[in-house]
Amino acid sequence: MSPKNEEAISIDVELDHLGLYVQNLDETIHWYNQHLGFKLSDYLPKGNTEEPVAPDGIAWMRYGKWHHDLTLIQVPDETVNLNEKEVISNLKEICFYTNSKNALVKIYDHLPTSQITSEIKFDPISKTSQFTTKDPDKNKIRILHHPSIVRRKEESHFSQINSLSHITIWSRDTEIAKQWYEKNLNFKEKINFEKDSIKMTNTQGDVKLIIDQIPKESLKKNLSFAGRGTLQQIALKVKSEEVLLDSHDLLVKNKVEIVQAPRPQNWSSGTKFYFLDMDKIKIEIETGMKSVADSYGSEYEVIKRLNLFH
Ligand SMILES: [Fe+2]
Repeated sequence: MSPKNEEAISIDVELDHLGLYVQNLDETIHWYNQHLGFKLSDYLPKGNTEEPVAPDGIAWMRYGKWHHDLTLIQVPDETVNLNEKEVISNLKEICFYTNSKNALVKIYDHLPTSQITSEIKFDPISKTSQFTTKDPDKNKIRILHHPSIVRRKEESHFSQINSLSHITIWSRDTEIAKQWYEKNLNFKEKINFEKDSIKMTNTQGDVKLIIDQIPKESLKKNLSFAGRGTLQQIALKVKSEEVLLDSHDLLVKNKVEIVQAPRPQNWSSGTKFYFLDMDKIKIEIETGMKSVADSYGSEYEVIKRLNLFH
């Protein structure tokens, strides 16, 4: 057998979940629970020693049957931005699909008007509906319904959110970023004529990542939360441990900065590892996580304290 060459490696990643740094963990847990119907799966308070990356507190939240779709990490008090105009984030937008058009309207109607940043727009050609809002850290959240998205029967029924459509990140140089994602993660550029915004598709051809150019006047600004930005991680799923190890080998060969070598996941029997992209955004590759029952996580004191539904 000849040794594996680069062509033999087929890296096929799926956008799976996200991590955010937050200024106020309680407020953010409350917002995602009340407005998007996310449940709390697990929670560690300030002072915990179990998660070295989150000594000030962490929450794992979900909208479906998997253990988490979103992790929220409390930043230390001293990193909170005093003047928001002086900093930028690495995250421009998170876009979620809803289960139905009614689900989209339900979320819209429940949000305070002050948090709506664009009204519902319906496109009669694609039959999509969408609007935007913002979470407590002012991350732009786009809520989108597309007719091809329907609630899967086996999914739990507590959230109006069906799945993650795509995320948009800010980059210092979109051309370098595009090449980085093509070379290392097998994303492809979708033909588009928009300047300074590059739409990247996975191997199925769905746009999952949009890379937007940081405006010139903001290039000198520092990332919020003392250099962290609000995007803590992007997590991508691969279908097997073999693909995960192949992608790890490819990244090492390409001299990508690995921040944690492959190791067993805390929340499933699978494997994960972490590395940094060209703008130092942390990326995780994992092999999937365990599913949990609807009632999972309901024992947490924080649910009563914040008056969350569970
Ligand atoms: Fe993760």
